[in-house]
Amino acid sequence: MDRMLRPVHRWVWGNFDRRVRKLLAFAEVEGDGGRDILRAAELTADPLLRRLYLAHAADELRHGEMFRRRGSEILRALQARSTSGFQADWLAPSGHGVDDLNVDGTDDTLLAFLHLSEKAAATRFAVYRDVLQDDLPTQKIFEAILRDEAFHMNYAFSQLARVSPQHHWRRLWRARLSRLWKAYLRLAAALGGIMGALILTIQYFVLLPPFAWLAKRAARREPPGWTPISPSRNGSLNRQY
Ligand SMILES: [Fe+2]
Ligand SMILES: [Fe+2]
Repeated sequence: MDRMLRPVHRWVWGNFDRRVRKLLAFAEVEGDGGRDILRAAELTADPLLRRLYLAHAADELRHGEMFRRRGSEILRALQARSTSGFQADWLAPSGHGVDDLNVDGTDDTLLAFLHLSEKAAATRFAVYRDVLQDDLPTQKIFEAILRDEAFHMNYAFSQLARVSPQHHWRRLWRARLSRLWKAYLRLAAALGGIMGALILTIQYFVLLPPFAWLAKRAARREPPGWTPISPSRNGSLNRQY
């Protein structure tokens, strides 16, 4: 899908303001992922996995720093010009995706999730590298980071096969379905928002005019000024109701 959308990605990354914001947002995502994987290293009982998680976390924190530094460089070059509001996050998401890492599960669930999110990151970063031909330093950063992502993807898969030799395919499919389900929920929520706005707009223009017309007609029939009330209702006010 990301490869098919290459022209769209070229357009998204073509705007320098958006490029800066994207790099800074990616820095956040990488740093967040790094901290989650550090937590996984604390929790695991497997010494080999702990070493790999620690190296992985160090990589992600370094990626965050690389994106942040490059984003700041471009920002300084732009001399803090006005910024464009549309960030096209849906069209060019951060590498590892928007699903948060759940480090409280078992190692095999975590490794299955990691394998898929690192694979997505490696694919996306390869596309971003290809469309950034006008910006060699940023292109080099994507090139370096995507090599790390490919390593993360491969180690996650081989470790998953080691810790869960019987069920690793099942774990991968479960993680894939969980990602699909979450993507569907995000899409459904976005569609729900659009439909809600559309229906309320239609209601506003279709239902409100007759009421406004009736209210105006009733207002025209009202005699202007004070209206005397009947003597029977005009007693003195000697009680509350
Ligand atoms: Fe990364
Ligand atoms: Fe990674």
